[in-house]
Amino acid sequence: MSSDAPGGGGPGEPGPGGGESATAEWYRHFGTVDAPGNSACYAQWSVGIADDPELIRRITEWPYNKRQPLLMLAAARFLGARISSYPAFRGFLDSRWEDISRIVLTRATQTNEAGRCATLLPSLAQIAAAGGRPLALLEVGASAGLALFPDRYGYEYGAGAGVTRLAPAGAAPGTYPVLGCTVTGPVPFPAELPQVVWRAGIDLNPLDVRNPDDVAWLEALIWPEQEFRRERLRRAIAIARDDPPLLVAGDLNDRLPALAAQAPAEATLVVFHSAVMAYLDAAARDRFRGTMSRLAAERGCHWLSNEGHTVIIQADGSSVVPEMDESRLRGRFLLLHNGRPAAIAGPHGQSLEWL
Ligand SMILES: C[S@@+](CC[C@H](N)C(=O)[O-])C[C@H]1O[C@@H](n2cnc3c(N)ncnc32)[C@H](O)[C@@H]1O
Repeated sequence: MSSDAPGGGGPGEPGPGGGESATAEWYRHFGTVDAPGNSACYAQWSVGIADDPELIRRITEWPYNKRQPLLMLAAARFLGARISSYPAFRGFLDSRWEDISRIVLTRATQTNEAGRCATLLPSLAQIAAAGGRPLALLEVGASAGLALFPDRYGYEYGAGAGVTRLAPAGAAPGTYPVLGCTVTGPVPFPAELPQVVWRAGIDLNPLDVRNPDDVAWLEALIWPEQEFRRERLRRAIAIARDDPPLLVAGDLNDRLPALAAQAPAEATLVVFHSAVMAYLDAAARDRFRGTMSRLAAERGCHWLSNEGHTVIIQADGSSVVPEMDESRLRGRFLLLHNGRPAAIAGPHGQSLEWL
């Protein structure tokens, strides 16, 4: 499961209602499995918390879905915690515990990773080319909607002599983020970026790129040492701020049919999502699949699903993609186009293995 995602079901994560030992195990798992390789600081802090009974007691007082390590650590970063040793971080937590509790209880992990556009782009371009029409994009679980601008970002696929570069027409270099992505397999690179004529999203709590608090929260959700992701986020936010997408607040299952009906008929509608299905239970995922089948039948809508393996399990325990197991994915996402595996994608868009 992506560490962006809520707990429950991931290896080492406690089930709802788990007590203090389950909380400690959650932080230990995050600190020893999820964080190393991404953030030495979060690895150290999280293991420190796991070994700190008083903090584990305080964290376990929060509702289950608020005990998630990334949420708590992001709240501390939002309030100004700097990269430091665990004892210094512990001092910071003691001095700001009430504020940390308030942030944890009012915010959620809503990491918005523009980098994921790099792994969605080849499929989007294929869809646009096949339909011979521009795209109408609708993202469910859109956060601030930064993945709704694949036509406004630059791309650098592969490295060295074999690199494929794409850039938005007419934009000055330096004004857009360039999304780097390693590639394996016969990725169908487009000659140019697809045209997007409509962009809309649904989120339980849409973040507003014009609201400084929301922007600060998006920055806090990026792991401390990943400065290149913060830079990418800032550039993507600048683009979204100039032309904010239509974002609707509510549950994706409740809002999808009416919002899809607003998409212009002369465009090919693509509904997509990344790192969202983990927030839905199996029944809600089934309901979503039903809506997608109807949208495909009624208006030729395409569906791109970019999610970890654990969330494509159906209510009866079977997998929608039985040929794809966890050992093949190794923590990456599976990209499905209309339910069929297209690629295995790095969770933040950093790699693309075309199938
Ligand atoms: C980890 S973030 C991913 C955001 C974005 N898809 C991306 O790739 O950057 C998951 C988002 O899904 C939203 N979400 C979770 N459950 C939802 C639901 N039932 N309906 C709408 N949005 C939901 C959350 O609020 C959050 O913003």
